[in-house]
Amino acid sequence: MSGASYTTRGGVAVITLDNPPVNGLGHALRTELVAAIDRANADPAVRALVLVGAGKVFSGGADIKEFNTPKALAEPTLHTVIRAAEESPKPVVVALNGLAMGGGLELALGCHYRVAAPGAPVALPEVKLGILPGAGGTQRLPRAVGLETALEMIVTGAQVPVERLRGTALVDEIVEGDLVAGAVAFAERIADRHPLPRLRDRKVEHPDPEAFLQFVRKSVAAASRGLAAPGKCVDAVEAAVTLPFEEGKAFERSLFLELVQSAESKALRHAFFAERAASKIPDVPDDTPTRPIRTAAVVGAGTMGGGIAMNFASAGIPVALLEVKPEALEKGVATIRKNYEASAKKGKLTAAQVQEAMALIRPTLHYADLAQADIVIEAVFEDMAVKEQVFRRLDEVMKPGAILATNTSTLDVDRIASFTRRPGDVIGTHFFSPANVMKLLEIVRGAETSKDVLATAMALSKRLRKTGVVSGVCDGFIGNRMLEQYLRQCLFLVEEGALPQEVDAALEAFGLAMGPFRMSDLAGNDVGWYIRKRRYVEKPHVRYSKIADRICERGRFGQKTGAGWYRYEPGRREAIPDPVVEELVVAYRRELGLAPRKISREEIVERAVFALVNEGAKIVEEGIALRASDVDMVYLTGYGFPARRGGPMHYADSVGLYNVVRAMSRFAANPHGDPAFWTPAPLLARLAAEGKSFS
Ligand SMILES: NC(=O)c1ccc[n+]([C@@H]2O[C@H](COP(=O)([O-])OP(=O)(O)OC[C@H]3O[C@@H](n4cnc5c(N)ncnc54)[C@H](O)[C@@H]3O)[C@@H](O)[C@H]2O)c1
Repeated sequence: MSGASYTTRGGVAVITLDNPPVNGLGHALRTELVAAIDRANADPAVRALVLVGAGKVFSGGADIKEFNTPKALAEPTLHTVIRAAEESPKPVVVALNGLAMGGGLELALGCHYRVAAPGAPVALPEVKLGILPGAGGTQRLPRAVGLETALEMIVTGAQVPVERLRGTALVDEIVEGDLVAGAVAFAERIADRHPLPRLRDRKVEHPDPEAFLQFVRKSVAAASRGLAAPGKCVDAVEAAVTLPFEEGKAFERSLFLELVQSAESKALRHAFFAERAASKIPDVPDDTPTRPIRTAAVVGAGTMGGGIAMNFASAGIPVALLEVKPEALEKGVATIRKNYEASAKKGKLTAAQVQEAMALIRPTLHYADLAQADIVIEAVFEDMAVKEQVFRRLDEVMKPGAILATNTSTLDVDRIASFTRRPGDVIGTHFFSPANVMKLLEIVRGAETSKDVLATAMALSKRLRKTGVVSGVCDGFIGNRMLEQYLRQCLFLVEEGALPQEVDAALEAFGLAMGPFRMSDLAGNDVGWYIRKRRYVEKPHVRYSKIADRICERGRFGQKTGAGWYRYEPGRREAIPDPVVEELVVAYRRELGLAPRKISREEIVERAVFALVNEGAKIVEEGIALRASDVDMVYLTGYGFPARRGGPMHYADSVGLYNVVRAMSRFAANPHGDPAFWTPAPLLARLAAEGKSFS
């Protein structure tokens, strides 16, 4: 069913929105809604109408299956449906049985009365897609709930339980018990009241709207990190205060059309669909059975192991945490407690929630305590010999059917699986630091990983509130393999004439949460040094700038040693440019015989970002990533790539692949930037030549 059903109860027509899973307002449903409203009005026995949603949700808004199709714009549009309800000569009562979001809430606001089940949430989340509510939401919501609440809801997109709006015109009654019966009784009570109340006829009440809007505008500008939509939401809501309804609505429409065509909104919508696409694995259908995960275990209580254990505890899953030495175990548990208490101090958790989470963590020194866990995640030192010892042990003790996962960042998951007699049960779960905070979880599918293990890991990522992205086995998986090329180019830029702080500033202006040098100082420069030393042996033909080694040779490992690419004052995280680094850079350039040149911000951004794109294209072509949008998800959720750019691959699409390839041929002419690297990946070259894009 993807339409509206119609029944009558006494003198009330009950129209049920029925378009699973969330009653999206698709074309078929919109058509039937208008027909049902007309039918009720044509029937002399009907005195009032009730609109209710089938299932748990009233309506999730636009039907995402119809996004970017002609159906989305076909009549009757949502505007027409809302007009039909608002202009109905008989009263229309909406019964909010559950979530009313976006267009679903706009429809409800266009009706004459609203009753709700307790706890039904309402939201206008359009801002999260870089747009604003375009069917009267910015004009009717402030008239219903007041300026302050409406601004908060529209600018943040957050869900608000209907109880919080009790006493406003958004909710006339909260119905305990049978909602439809309550709504029908309500409709019968008000059936003869005239004139019909319409939100459009109300005024927005506020003692000093001008001053309040000015205050909001300032805080929104500060918080929206270069995004346009939140500010436009304020503009649209202001129109609800200053303009008559129809003019305000026309203004809302013009802002909506402006935003919907913006690069920013296209990027945010791309990310919305990319997130959904990432959970689809072509040869692992949605109905693949998963293994139950009731208990978990983590081996190693260091930086990552502690954070991973927190993820399980926060999701309510009991987790055993194993270390070899009691001191390491105590330290790991103390860090976990400190992190939880810090969240409690910020008001994110209650003291009781901290206690509950801590009670789910079971520290141990004995493998026997892990044996019954449904999944075990290994997070010990990044050393194949140590991993071998741990996996051989896990193979001995873990119950049959347990999933054996490794958090390795660089080692071969297939080799790790070979240390067990059950390679089908082995998988990589690559968390990002800090593991209790970062959204990304790369799920590394080994050659023998079985499909149900993969499906279970993907389902687990959702329970842990992570974005799971599947990666094949290769050095660095998706994210770090691309990062290596990006960092190489950033170091070449320093050799050629840019200072670390200039590279960081250019990329931060582009929108990255942190430039590469500040990021390296945070992660620890020794990590990259360790990897480069391995590369010098494995790949002697690849050129690496040695300037990063010079920094490390002086013990400048970053924030943890008080100095790296920058210097740091004790107890502070602010990166302060350091003349010592500049001297090292200048001396190194002299050694290479390189005369520094002025490098534009544009070149910095293009070389750094297109390095990601070229490696990303290879990763897609090799099947390491299932699709280009998965690469984008990795960078958006794990590497601070700006949401308004949609990820590196989407950004390349927006620049045009032809232009990307042209820029690469310019870079290839520069002998210092690794000309061989700038040969476009075959997939990129082919798409550019055919005038196509990655998505
Ligand atoms: N730090 C990061 O940013 C990061 C990010 C992603 C993945 N990783 C990977 O996660 C793993 C752990 O890294 P980390 O940064 O947490 O290291 P860490 O040094 O902070 O912690 C490792 C812990 O493992 C313990 N350990 C060592 N051998 C053990 C054994 N045989 N049995 C039980 N415990 C043992 C150590 O006592 C230590 O507490 C590595 O594979 C690393 O590559 C790290």
